[in-house]
Amino acid sequence: MSNPISGFSKLSKAQKIEWLTTNYFKENTQAIKVLQKYWNPDIELQKLHDDFIENTVSNYYLPLGIAPNFLVNNDLYAIPMVIEESSVVAAASNAAKFWLDKGGFTTQVISTIKNGQVHLNFYGDTADMTAFFGVIKPKLIASISQVEKNMKKRGGGLLDIQLIDSTDSLDGFYQLHCTFETLDAMGANYINTCLETFAKTIEKEAKTFKAFIVSQTFPEVVMSILSNYTPECVVRASVSCHVDLLAQKDMEGQIFAQKLVRAIAIAKATPRRAVTHNKGIMNGIDAVILATGNDFRAVEAAVHAYASKDGQYSSLTHARLENDIFTMWIEVPLALGTVGGLTSLHPLVGFSFDLLQQPNAKKLMQLVAVAGLAQNFAALRSLVTTGIQKGHMKMHLMNILNGIQATDTEKASAINHFKANHISHSDVISFIEKLRA
Ligand code: MEV
Repeated sequence: MSNPISGFSKLSKAQKIEWLTTNYFKENTQAIKVLQKYWNPDIELQKLHDDFIENTVSNYYLPLGIAPNFLVNNDLYAIPMVIEESSVVAAASNAAKFWLDKGGFTTQVISTIKNGQVHLNFYGDTADMTAFFGVIKPKLIASISQVEKNMKKRGGGLLDIQLIDSTDSLDGFYQLHCTFETLDAMGANYINTCLETFAKTIEKEAKTFKAFIVSQTFPEVVMSILSNYTPECVVRASVSCHVDLLAQKDMEGQIFAQKLVRAIAIAKATPRRAVTHNKGIMNGIDAVILATGNDFRAVEAAVHAYASKDGQYSSLTHARLENDIFTMWIEVPLALGTVGGLTSLHPLVGFSFDLLQQPNAKKLMQLVAVAGLAQNFAALRSLVTTGIQKGHMKMHLMNILNGIQATDTEKASAINHFKANHISHSDVISFIEKLRA
């Protein structure tokens, strides 16, 4: 093990790698080779990636795949997806194709409000705090006029500020709950700047507020930060058709529809299933979010909190079977941006936006929700019919073959053989071993 290092970030890339490989690797030439293999020969492009984060030593590739044939509100899309899991893009493509001749996906943005809070300590009289807020609210709004000038020009900006007495949940805890419309920006920088400006205004104004001076009890700013929980920035996507159109190879449409409805009911009944059910949905959502340069951690955090909004972690999708019409839909909070952040920097994000015909944030919310719904439909379709492993292992076959360094000829024989045979890791290994023997 190595000794701690100070000033690591100030070393050059070569020096960082030198330090890393001499301290943590026995075979340091091998480690250096792997890192270098992934450097981009285009110096400018490499520099761009180096500068995204601190201490970059190489690039970490993930595949960018395309799921075509998504009919969304009567427009046809090919959706870009960045993901390592072998069956996800295939599943999305299958679901898109399945719904293509059944009316496709219908979407609707329900609301686009973002929010953030200034968290305060105040141990005095609540009436004083309420009076203070009444007096300073116009000053708070005025204090961000410069910060939100451009946002306002485009039609967005601060929507409201409320004082929330949260002393029931935590002694002395008050919040300035602020809501914003950030249009095509995810808005984190804008919101955080507004909140920090509010915090400064509060601190300054509190010093001269009479009731606080008399009681010698002043509000204290703990922190100011946007909330990634965005239950007022929500989108819905749905699919619907007559059960007769749902018929599967060995299953009547009516039975298939009942099974889908039941599978979703099970995800609503138990978090054990809901977590896996929603994980499948996030396979689609995260993949499009990554391809479009958005923050998948923020979306993950928001989505899972939303899945628990009624007191128990539950399904993000819903289904109904009424008068032989099957309907399945998703409702998710998605605070996304199509301007700012990585969106204008990463050339592949530019490619994804071109492919999606330059969506605005609302359109992107809809397409991401569609990807989530498609993924869930595809997963449930497999689960209630053939089981998940058949399709999954078919897609995973190439990973197993690559894992044992199969040659092109071996791969071709294996693909041919496993078209008609059960695939498992050990089946594939023994098939290749036999070939080699
Ligand atoms: C695998 O990545 C996702 C699934 O487990 C989702 C599900 O069970 O619904 C197939």
